[in-house]
Amino acid sequence: MLAEQDFRYIQDLVRERAAIVLEPGKEYLAVTRLDPLVRRAGLGSLSELVAALREEQTSALHEEVVDALTTNETTWFRDVYPFESLRSHVLPDLIERKRLSRTLFIWSAGCSSGQEPYSLAMLIREDFPELDHWQISIVGTDVSAAMLVRARAGLYGQIEVNRGLPAHLLVKYFHRVGVRWELDGRIRSMVRFQRQSLMGPWANLPLMDLVLVRNVMIYFDTATKRQVLGRVRDVLAPHGYLLLGSAETTLHIDDAFQRHGVGPTGWYRRKQGSPVRTGQG
Ligand SMILES: C[S@@+](CC[C@H](N)C(=O)[O-])C[C@H]1O[C@@H](n2cnc3c(N)ncnc32)[C@H](O)[C@@H]1O
Repeated sequence: MLAEQDFRYIQDLVRERAAIVLEPGKEYLAVTRLDPLVRRAGLGSLSELVAALREEQTSALHEEVVDALTTNETTWFRDVYPFESLRSHVLPDLIERKRLSRTLFIWSAGCSSGQEPYSLAMLIREDFPELDHWQISIVGTDVSAAMLVRARAGLYGQIEVNRGLPAHLLVKYFHRVGVRWELDGRIRSMVRFQRQSLMGPWANLPLMDLVLVRNVMIYFDTATKRQVLGRVRDVLAPHGYLLLGSAETTLHIDDAFQRHGVGPTGWYRRKQGSPVRTGQG
């Protein structure tokens, strides 16, 4: 059971910290996600949990509640097509544009347990040997501390490696550790993970050549999506690429972006003439 005022408190907390909109009617979700936390914290009920939260502005418990209400669904090479477009168009174009500086800056925002940035790292290692001597920076960020612990560990269960990971890459880049699979250090070392809410201050990020914000903003309202996309534009190099989830778009939200590509292989770039932050590109 969740009292109305307690649900409202939780709604406000997750909206403020992570922009996640917990619609009325989603009380069951709060109950199922927070019950384990109530028990772990040695509390008797959800209302006791909310009472404990109300005592302070911010605490580890606040973070854990936000964490528990994130949805972390992800797979390797999710949706296939975006990775095809990275292979056939986006990365070749970036390589051509960056051949003098020999650097690539890539950001996977809302990276969950790491499958997205690690898929990218494997794609680069497998298909672009010319990048072996480039400085490749892939950063994965997420609001969930628990997901970042998992991402950094690079350990995945059998069900997880069965989801989207081609068998030859499992054989080549993973070792069995008990009942789990550990991703090889060659790939793990290509990705740096960092805690960051898209709602909070953003770390000092370099200008990015490629930004992936996939299946993260589906939980945000339109005003928040607009705000986040505006900030993404600020960190995107003039030639930069943005990839969203297959059901997501910038259309009618931020018209400074333009969609390119056909069918399911689309990506976004800033329209010519839209303002650009100066700096390394
Ligand atoms: C559904 S997963 C998507 C993972 C991956 N991008 C993909 O497409 O497979 C969404 C991730 O976004 C994170 N997230 C949600 N709200 C966030 C916010 N405000 N700031 C940063 N990450 C957020 C969640 O913790 C979760 O791990």
